[in-house]
Amino acid sequence: MKAVLASGNPGKLRELAALLAGLDIELISQSDLNVTPAAETGQTFVENALLKARHASRQTALPAIADDSGLVVRALGGAPGVRSARYAGDAATDADNNRKLIRALVGHSDRSAWFYCALVFLQHPKDPSPLLATGLWRGQIIDQPRGENGFGYDPHFLIPHLGKTSAELPPQQKNQLSHRGQAGGALAAALGRSLGN
Ligand code: IMP
Repeated sequence: MKAVLASGNPGKLRELAALLAGLDIELISQSDLNVTPAAETGQTFVENALLKARHASRQTALPAIADDSGLVVRALGGAPGVRSARYAGDAATDADNNRKLIRALVGHSDRSAWFYCALVFLQHPKDPSPLLATGLWRGQIIDQPRGENGFGYDPHFLIPHLGKTSAELPPQQKNQLSHRGQAGGALAAALGRSLGN
């Protein structure tokens, strides 16, 4: 079966293709199929993942997989949340977003946060029964960045039991533990069960 991945990120395509390797699915990037960007207007990661998958499936007439992820900080009422990529503005860099995050947390002693990932699979744009998988990875936000790996908020995301930020983890270890790794494994299992029927 061919399926479109509603993301133009080659890293995500590689990661997901590896997770789905045992299944009869050929994953194609939406950027190779000229899919236009979807409006991410949902209030939750799950809603945005569904919007993106539906949009890609409608434009390509293929089954679609989409993900949406970001950082949720308890003391900030869930921000940056679905605006994680654009927290400091539409053209924000990772450094801009991190600066805004650390400023917003000045005076807050509760530093608990989690990365969250929603992954969905739709057979077709009107599929009423999407497969859904989520992953949640808990940590603490620290003021001083540490580590060179990863991207986004990784240098400020401390995993207490490891004593390391996610930017200090080797990529393979991060993939095993992370919100994306958890959701990817769960979606692969759900797809395996569903295609086996
Ligand atoms: P996306 O939905 O995977 O594109 O992620 C949206 C935004 O969430 C990214 O631009 C990052 O700011 C943040 N984010 C998601 N996953 C991670 C992660 O694993 N590490 C650091 N930041 C992340």
